[in-house]
Amino acid sequence: MNKIKNTVLNSPHESQLTSNQIHIWKIDINNPQIDLDKLPREILSQDERKRAARLRSAKDKRRFTVSRVFLRKSLSHYLDTAPSEIKFTYNKYGKPNIDPEHHPQNIRFNLSHSKNLALYAITQNREIGIDVEYIRNVDKAGKIVRRFFSKDECEFYYSQPNNKKNWAFFTLWTRKEAYSKARGMGIGLPTKEFDLQLVPPEVGQINHIRTKNKESKWSLIDIEVDSDYMAALAAEGNDFEINHWKLDDIRQL
Ligand SMILES: CC(C)(COP(=O)(O)OP(=O)(O)OC[C@H]1O[C@@H](n2cnc3c(N)ncnc32)[C@H](O)[C@@H]1OP(=O)(O)O)[C@@H](O)C(=O)NCCC(=O)NCCS
Repeated sequence: MNKIKNTVLNSPHESQLTSNQIHIWKIDINNPQIDLDKLPREILSQDERKRAARLRSAKDKRRFTVSRVFLRKSLSHYLDTAPSEIKFTYNKYGKPNIDPEHHPQNIRFNLSHSKNLALYAITQNREIGIDVEYIRNVDKAGKIVRRFFSKDECEFYYSQPNNKKNWAFFTLWTRKEAYSKARGMGIGLPTKEFDLQLVPPEVGQINHIRTKNKESKWSLIDIEVDSDYMAALAAEGNDFEINHWKLDDIRQL
């Protein structure tokens, strides 16, 4: 089992991306320092503004708006383009990508949010997926496990003592989601047909994914973000290092 370099950098201005790097940006969506009225919402596309307007709850509107403004601002560093000029395409399962016709750098990204946290993973020339979940009690966790998880994963879950079942559930869930999101297929991917290497989480450790008993080219890494959350990252290959930043204020970008 190999290890990857996993560093925390101090300033987003160190954010030059080389092709063996993955950058992870973390923000607290509800950070009181992020004032919705002062965010440069004009950088959002018409579609994004319409989508925000369609969201019913103020909480969801805030989450979507803050997350997209930060996404555009952070991607603009990598694409050397104004945030408002960034064009996205969406695959048929809804995964957003940077439009290669407008931005030839082959920068790839994925994002996830849960409760107060949003995580962005940004890289180049490789597919990527990220998932974060707030750790909570899940009703009917066993039913979800039987429905979505492979035989080995079910056994792993049921072999845990009761006080570790929640941990096992979110370990499996975030890894599974990160891989599904990297593949871009969302619920279109038959989640029972791939197995995750079931080792206890250790930050920075690369796990491999087995699909129908064959090792795949994908890596899976548990990411430590906060004690109340679990997160996982899936990426093509294993020749990369990970850098982390925490953003508290749009002026950092
Ligand atoms: C679409 C899906 C990926 C969203 O996941 P979620 O946990 O509800 O939400 P997250 O916050 O993690 O991710 C949402 C973001 O992922 C991105 N996204 C949307 N569709 C995506 C897809 N098909 N693939 C990858 N990323 C996607 C978007 O950027 C979205 O954020 P936005 O709406 O602000 O633009 C998820 O519903 C899904 O289809 N999962 C499939 C895997 C599955 O069946 N899991 C069952 C348990 S193993």
